[in-house]
Amino acid sequence: MVSNLDIKIEIISKEHKSIISNFCTYEADLKDYLVEDALFHQENKVSKTFLLFNNNSLVGYVTLLCDSLRVEGEIQGYFKNKNILYKTLPAIKIGRLAVDDKYQRKGFGRRLVHIAYTYAKEISNNYCGCRFLILDAKINKEKEKDSLHFYKKMNFKILKERIKGTTSMYFDLMLNNKLIWFF
Ligand SMILES: CC(C)(COP(=O)(O)OP(=O)(O)OC[C@H]1O[C@@H](n2cnc3c(N)ncnc32)[C@H](O)[C@@H]1OP(=O)(O)O)[C@@H](O)C(=O)NCCC(=O)NCCS
Repeated sequence: MVSNLDIKIEIISKEHKSIISNFCTYEADLKDYLVEDALFHQENKVSKTFLLFNNNSLVGYVTLLCDSLRVEGEIQGYFKNKNILYKTLPAIKIGRLAVDDKYQRKGFGRRLVHIAYTYAKEISNNYCGCRFLILDAKINKEKEKDSLHFYKKMNFKILKERIKGTTSMYFDLMLNNKLIWFF
C-alpha cells in the first residue's frame, strides 16, 4: 500500500497519447489495447476508458462497457425462484483493467475495480436496470499473475470455470454488497 497518495481519474483523450505510450504491463495485449484501441472505441461509444493517476504518474486503467450476463450455473435457480425468467440480465462489464508493472501490489488494482463498482452502482441505483458487474478474468499459468485470485479476493464469484484463456466472473450489485476494496 502507498502512503503518499494524490489520486486523479481522467477519461482517456488524445492529449494522453504520449503518457499511455509509456505504460508497461506483462500482459502485452492490455498495453496494445490501451495504445491502439481504447480511444477509438470510446469515440465510437463502444467503451469508456478511465486512466488512474497517482502523483501525476499513470498507474493503471479500466475500460467499461454495457453488457449482459447469461443466467446459468448457481444463479439460475435463484432467479427462477423469483420468477425472473430472462436468459440474460443487464450488467456493466470491466472490459479491460491493468496496473503498470512498476506499481503492482500497491492497491491500485483494487482501486480500479472500485471505480468500476462505483459507476455500476450509480447507474443501477439511479438510471437503468443493471444487476451485475462482470468481467472475464485472464488466466495466467503463473499463480502470482493470475487475475482470478485477485478478483476472488474482492468477492467476485465465478460464473463459468475454464482451464485456458479467461474465466467469467460476476459481482451481484444487489446481493454481494461487500466489495472488498479498503485502501
Ligand atoms: C491483476 C492486477 C490488476 C492486480 O493489480 P494490483 O494493483 O497489483 O493489485 P492490488 O495491489 O490492488 O491487490 C489487491 C489484492 O489482490 C492480491 N493480488 C493481486 N494480484 C494477485 C494475483 N495475481 N494472485 C493473487 N492475489 C493477487 C494482492 O496481494 C492484494 O491482496 P491483499 O490486499 O490481501 O494483499 C495486476 O496484477 C495487473 O494489472 N495484471 C495484468 C493485467 C491483468 O491481468 N488484468 C486483469 C485482466 S481482466
